[in-house]
Amino acid sequence: MLTGKRILLIIGGGIAAYKALETIRRLQDAGAVVVPVLTRAGEEFVTPLSVSALAGQKVYRDLFDLTDEAEMGHIELSRAADLLVVAPATADLMAKMAQGHANDLASTLLLATDTQVLCAPAMNVRMWEHPATQRNLAQLRADGVRFIGPNEGGMACGEFGPGRMAEPLEIVAAVQGALSAGPLAGRHILVTSGPTHEPIDPVRYIANRSSGAQGTAIARALAALGADVSFVTGPADVAPPEGVRIIRVETAQQMLEAVEAALPAEVGVFAAAVADWRVASASDQKIKKTVDGLPHLEFAENPDILATVAQMEGRRPPLVIGFAAETQDVVALATSKRDRKGCDWIVANDVSPATGIMGGSENAVHLITDAGVEDWPRMGKNEVAVQLADRIAAALHAERP
Ligand code: C5P
Repeated sequence: MLTGKRILLIIGGGIAAYKALETIRRLQDAGAVVVPVLTRAGEEFVTPLSVSALAGQKVYRDLFDLTDEAEMGHIELSRAADLLVVAPATADLMAKMAQGHANDLASTLLLATDTQVLCAPAMNVRMWEHPATQRNLAQLRADGVRFIGPNEGGMACGEFGPGRMAEPLEIVAAVQGALSAGPLAGRHILVTSGPTHEPIDPVRYIANRSSGAQGTAIARALAALGADVSFVTGPADVAPPEGVRIIRVETAQQMLEAVEAALPAEVGVFAAAVADWRVASASDQKIKKTVDGLPHLEFAENPDILATVAQMEGRRPPLVIGFAAETQDVVALATSKRDRKGCDWIVANDVSPATGIMGGSENAVHLITDAGVEDWPRMGKNEVAVQLADRIAAALHAERP
């Protein structure tokens, strides 16, 4: 339920604006008060009168409306809300948000706010897939903006693909998710994920087969419990989770720097498959095939990020969780890894090719803690993530209820 919650609904200019009217009704059904803001372009699709009549509230339209400033300044308007919802979030509104423009009421409210923002994008499929929109999307995600949709389907312009705005009830569910005071609300958790790429020269690199699926699922499960997640990810195959702070890196050294910059955190989950070595003699220029023989690569050891953080004085998160991917003697090797690196828990799994776990969708893990070893049954990586997030919530609750 959304009883007593105040939602500032920014209606952008797109054909999907008609669904914003229905969204107002559904949010009210859930108990929310909806304060509507209509952009100039939005007014071309729905009238201010229908919006304010449905919301039962004044509709805000103009930055320079002095009456509004006397009643409530734009800063206050955005901050008095529990959540800002942008629906439809047009390509233009997303671009303005990503760039930090403040040249109309909607963009100014979005820049002035310190409240969470949820966007429901709606646009033509080509506009959605355009690199510029995808860049803006990545930037907004990195800024902590949440997204619902767009959905795939036929569009008003006659094309098919991703671009349809999420349905009103989906938006209501996303609002509830964003506002739910889950057991990890307000807890800052750091998650590393994905492989690292270690350059050989400007076009070649050393990598591993990690898809980033498990780390991504863990970050998503933690965010679903309300955690404030900093997600430091190498170049992964899977799309990053929504509603987390995304910090993209390439190499192990960059990952360590990003992790140190993200501290302090109450929990560190180190799910990244960090390359153990980098090429010490990485070349600035593409290495050429020569008749003189094969290139000679010198290796250097990468920093162990988990061990560095687990052994930090002062800024060590109270709960540090590592992973151990082994191909034999899984539990024994993982147990000694836990001692050697100094982490609190180790999630161990067998990644020998026969298991299909590396790069696959399932995982079979053992959780090694002070209390001993738990063997979890084989399950989807998402389920492993949800169970681990629950355990983290229980551990934090026991320590600071
Ligand atoms: O030593 P190994 O790579 O098996 O250790 C795995 C655990 O250590 C994982 O949690 C991984 O994220 C972390 N790790 C790290 N930095 C490294 C190597 C591993 O954080 N350089």
